[in-house]
Amino acid sequence: MNKKYVAPPYRIKMVEPIKVTTKEERIGFLKDAGYNPFSLRSEDVYIDLLTDSGTGAMSHFQWAALMMGDEAYAGSRSFYKLEKVAKEITNYKYIIPAHQGRGAEQVVLPQLVDREGLYFISNMHFDTTRAHVELAGARALDCVIDECFDTENYHPFKGNFDLKGLVNIIEGKGKENIAGIIMTITNNSAGGQPVSMENMKEVKKIANKYDITLLIDGARYAENAYFVKQREEEYKNKSIREIALEVFQLADIFLMSAKKDGISNIGGLICIKEDTDLYNKCRTYIVPMEGFPTYGGLTGRDMEALSVGLNEALELDYLEHRMDQVRFLGDKLRDAGVPIQYPVGGHAVFVDCKKFAPHIPYFEFPAQSVSNALYLEAGVRPVEIGSFLLGRDPDTHENLESPLELMRLTIPRRTYTYAHLEVVAEAVIEVYKNREILVGLEFDYEPPVLRHFTARLKPIKK
Ligand code: F0G
Repeated sequence: MNKKYVAPPYRIKMVEPIKVTTKEERIGFLKDAGYNPFSLRSEDVYIDLLTDSGTGAMSHFQWAALMMGDEAYAGSRSFYKLEKVAKEITNYKYIIPAHQGRGAEQVVLPQLVDREGLYFISNMHFDTTRAHVELAGARALDCVIDECFDTENYHPFKGNFDLKGLVNIIEGKGKENIAGIIMTITNNSAGGQPVSMENMKEVKKIANKYDITLLIDGARYAENAYFVKQREEEYKNKSIREIALEVFQLADIFLMSAKKDGISNIGGLICIKEDTDLYNKCRTYIVPMEGFPTYGGLTGRDMEALSVGLNEALELDYLEHRMDQVRFLGDKLRDAGVPIQYPVGGHAVFVDCKKFAPHIPYFEFPAQSVSNALYLEAGVRPVEIGSFLLGRDPDTHENLESPLELMRLTIPRRTYTYAHLEVVAEAVIEVYKNREILVGLEFDYEPPVLRHFTARLKPIKK
């Protein structure tokens, strides 16, 4: 499957040196980091695939835009520029910036929870979204199609909602107890998997029927639109922008971590289609949380760079190259027999560690063990998306078992070359060859929420 790759639609103007360390050094660094790659210093990482969030390379247009930042506390020119761009993309009436995605979540989600016993239903909640649902006093239920958990077999839209399941949850819990339906596009936790337009339209019908607010968690909405264009016949001649616009018209609220498809190092958006009451509530609530509603935790220059990045992320040649980098890494691993979520998603290759290290049980975090081994092998930093991240049941405090144990190799935008990805592939394949020697992990320190960010672990000696 040696398909030629799509060469980048840009050339390199500035470089940032990265350092190769020795295996002996990495053994020490990982121990000091409590066997949690989140605690490594980035200087000790050769190729950083922890996340695609805020780690992309800005264009020279974005760097130039930084100089235009209006740093006024209120009514900044940069805000009005950002507002105009976001309105053009979404056709929504109200735009409020936030410092990043979770900033938007912490402002909006509590407005939708006015009593106890409410639920949000998503194809899959991202971890901070789940945390904010729970902090607001509601519960987060996931409802994705079963094909999503079958990593081996092709399905064009593994991020889709299980529509029957969605109706069953609404009827089972009572429609008055559903605070909102959240369409996560692409579905990050399932492997950056897209949601089809057809599926989103059906979700919209269900939301209408039961009169439930529909939200889009659209950190990677442009990548999702690209998949729709590739894989849904009806959309092959539509532009990415047209497809995105059609998606936004389905929902009431769009929350965005603009660190992804805004190609910015920081930023988030709250976009509200037309609900003036909700807009007013958010405008009030954001002041003590993120800041005044015309900056929402961002500097004027951040808003300038974001205004440019939002448009660049919708360009087809950019998306074609980006998605091809992910495809390239995925093909290399699959050709070598490494189990991955197939087809690959938009922003990352997800290695199926239940199959990679079947001898490690979920409560000993197999994907974390594989991730650590990859760092030791080549200084590549991936991230675990599995039972370690999922945490504990908020009611019983038992360790939850994730349906998938994934190691995510996340590709930052416009940052690494195909040569870097070849180094990554070779290292993963090497770890795979020696997978029997991998061991599970146990806690040295476990924080009460979002434990994967700051926990310390140690290998279990058997
Ligand atoms: N929603 C989705 C689907 C996300 O992927 C993220 C972040 C957020 C919300 C929160 O946004 O980080 O700007 O506060 N995902 C990053 C990741 C962290 O690595 O996947 P944020």
